[in-house]
Amino acid sequence: MKPENIYIVSNRLPVTIMRTESGFTVTQSNGGLATALGSVFQQQNSYWIGWPGIIVDNEEEEQLVKELLEPLRCIPVFLSQQEFDGYYNGFSNAILWPLFHYHPGHCIFNEEYWLAYRNVNSKFGSVVSAHVPQDAFLWIHDYQLMLLPFYIKHSNLSYFHHIHFPSQEVFGIIPWRSDLLDALLKCRHIVFQTEKDRVNFKDACLKYASKAHPDLFNTHSPLGIKVSAHPISIDAFDFSQTVQKEVVQKMTQEIHQIFANQRIILSVDRLDYSKGILERLEAFRLLLKDFPQYREKLVLLMLVVPSRSDVPSYEEHKRKVDELVGNINSEYASLGWRPVHYYYQQVNRDTLCAYYAASDVCLVTSLRDGLNLVSKEYVACRTNNNGVLILSEMAGAAEELTYALKIHPYDFKQMVVAMVYALEMEKSEENARMTALKKKVFGYTVFDWLDTIFQEVFCMYDELKYSFEQ
Ligand code: ADP
Ligand code: G6P
Repeated sequence: MKPENIYIVSNRLPVTIMRTESGFTVTQSNGGLATALGSVFQQQNSYWIGWPGIIVDNEEEEQLVKELLEPLRCIPVFLSQQEFDGYYNGFSNAILWPLFHYHPGHCIFNEEYWLAYRNVNSKFGSVVSAHVPQDAFLWIHDYQLMLLPFYIKHSNLSYFHHIHFPSQEVFGIIPWRSDLLDALLKCRHIVFQTEKDRVNFKDACLKYASKAHPDLFNTHSPLGIKVSAHPISIDAFDFSQTVQKEVVQKMTQEIHQIFANQRIILSVDRLDYSKGILERLEAFRLLLKDFPQYREKLVLLMLVVPSRSDVPSYEEHKRKVDELVGNINSEYASLGWRPVHYYYQQVNRDTLCAYYAASDVCLVTSLRDGLNLVSKEYVACRTNNNGVLILSEMAGAAEELTYALKIHPYDFKQMVVAMVYALEMEKSEENARMTALKKKVFGYTVFDWLDTIFQEVFCMYDELKYSFEQ
């Protein structure tokens, strides 16, 4: 059962337009939102409204971008450099993101950012109003667009929050906290990744929303708003099929040959301080110090995709990561062996899957993470039921992936113990853990998640004669 017309609205489109010497090209977008929603954005009756990933400054270029996006069913919202700086680099990623991930020290509370966030959310509202029919299923995504419901005259709005929702004390640090909640509460249906996020949101509403009445979330009350928690997932079968492709198997073999006689610990993330990249490196450095027997026999392979590089805290973080990688390599490298292999680039799906398939261990060290799709992708790619997942207890996925080895990302010694345990694990335990993890990841894919959402919406809007296909 699914709505007849679906309009996704998010800051980032599933594709990014890039400027090249010969004009514009289209590439896949980065990040969990684009990966997960991208796999369900296949039906002909779905459309996606969002920023195309490029600043264009004249109508002719806007037209070219529109033409590139139209066959992909994507509708662009163009932003000027000034709007982008205030709304995206500023309010979204120098206030909301750091605060929601418990890094208030990275926040820059600038009134200009708030004004830009309001203006750009209103701009998204105008594009939505111009394109989306009233009977379509209108689905807003993520923290960049929390004010958008305020600018839309659509009766049945749904919202999905991809990142962690912090405790109400932390959320309360935002001077504009009530405006954000009041706007979100214009949605009838609000979904979070985990139960913890849902409870934090309700607590924040009861404290700061203008309509803070205990009945607010009672679906049978006139204001009835449904707030639920459904963790997003991946197209697990697509990942496992990709691993079986001849070209990917060949790449996997090549990786094995390059790292012959060495074990591989893999990490994959955007360059973001919330991912615990520095903490991971410190733990790996400690492992090399305390367990010298692994020197020349183990590598940490880090695939890091550039992210938000115009935001000062990200720029600074990149500098620290570069420096720490350099220090560890200079301290421990020997002729023919380098402990940390650090690639600061986006790789394509085939290459990514080859790395997942070739690695003995996947290490996820998020200091806080809404979900973390990488952990699920690694599991989906383990076609032989081997490999060990080490997962931060601060990632939303830790609630589902209970058979991973759990770590506290600030406890370096515990991370070292987990890495050694993973590398020395008995095959029977490795297989048992991976089999259980795969059961979870294949048992509830992104399509099951979508069905759950639609089922919930269908039950709510049934009486409103919402347009649904059976
Ligand atoms: P977030 O949404 O915060 O970026 P997730 O782990 O949920 O974190 O999602 C990250 C997505 O980005 C995954 O689908 C992952 O495969 C992809 N990704 C991360 N790093 C790279 C990289 N270096 N190259 C290609 N894809 C990457
Ligand atoms: C996370 C956020 C998404 C965002 C993605 C990539 O997954 O939840 O909303 O799109 O990171 O970040 P970016 O800022 O490049 O869109």
